[in-house]
Amino acid sequence: MKSKLSIIGAGAVGTSCAKWAMIKSVAQEIVLIDIVPDLAKGKALDLAQSSPLFGFSGKIWGTQDFSAIKDSQVVIITAGKPRTPGMSREDLLNINKEIVKSCAEKVKEFAPESKVIVVSNPLDAMVYVVYKITGFPKNKVMGMAGVLDSARYRYFIAEALGVSPKDVYALVMGIHGDLMLPLTRLANVAGIPITELLSCEEIKKIVKRTKYGGGEIVEYLKTGSAFLTPGLATIEMAESILKDEKRVLTCSVYLEGEYGINGVFLGVPVILGKNGVEKILEIKLTSEELEVLKECARHCEELIKMTGL
Ligand code: NAI
Ligand code: 2OP
Repeated sequence: MKSKLSIIGAGAVGTSCAKWAMIKSVAQEIVLIDIVPDLAKGKALDLAQSSPLFGFSGKIWGTQDFSAIKDSQVVIITAGKPRTPGMSREDLLNINKEIVKSCAEKVKEFAPESKVIVVSNPLDAMVYVVYKITGFPKNKVMGMAGVLDSARYRYFIAEALGVSPKDVYALVMGIHGDLMLPLTRLANVAGIPITELLSCEEIKKIVKRTKYGGGEIVEYLKTGSAFLTPGLATIEMAESILKDEKRVLTCSVYLEGEYGINGVFLGVPVILGKNGVEKILEIKLTSEELEVLKECARHCEELIKMTGL
């Protein structure tokens, strides 16, 4: 069976996902979908015309007909409003919950075998909406945020030290919002703890900048939010599933007792393979770190209540 990836929402993030999916040749067929007439068609055609230039030999096309997602192994949902300056991700909840609900219904109807990666904000609540509406098992529904937040964290550490970002390993757990938990204890440069390379003050500044990493870009862009790295971060997840790579990536997944948390989606490290979330890695956290994660869970519970599901 040929590999197929569908991307719902042909806005900034959806188009970035499609571009990275082509560059990385993650699937033989890529479908882009949007409710705006002809938008996905035009974006996909524009991308298709770049295939001869870098050698993508698969098929990429766009439509407003949701039945096109049939037989996809992975469906990405990016439909929804982005933030503008002064807005928090939570401010998007009321409008995006209806959009995401309608997309989830289509995924349930046309691609019941797929694994779903949700990108729309507020992320951890929107993944919950998709989980509830599709009724899919928890290994098949996940959210993208941790890969992006961790990439930002890694980049800021590399920048502060003047080293290659490739050699920086660090992870951000928790909610995709101001309460997120960039772990300083485990962050390292080629195995050397950052606490041996940077002062407490420098680390504090990097952690703060990471937490507001999305907001900083919104302030610059003014009319929308980040889309270039969000697209690549999402495709890293899709690729691990489509190619059964078993990568360890931080994803927003449904917790049932892990870290002492129940019934919410939060970012934790997981193994991603052809079955979606194949294993949740439960790492040892200090009591302070665990308290932050629990605070994230409480906040996510409040957001879930606001979805009415
Ligand atoms: P955008 O406005 O550029 O694109 C959104 C697209 O969704 C539009 O083309 C719109 O026509 C489409 N759409 C709306 N309702 C739809 C429906 N029912 N079915 C299909 N398509 C529909 O927004 P952008 O910048 O692409 O952001 C999309 C979402 O992703 C936002 O909610 C944003 O906050 C979120 N985001 C999340 C990130 C994360 O780390 N999880 C990172 C970046 C963005
Ligand atoms: C970001 O972090 C807006 O959630 C999006 O860039």
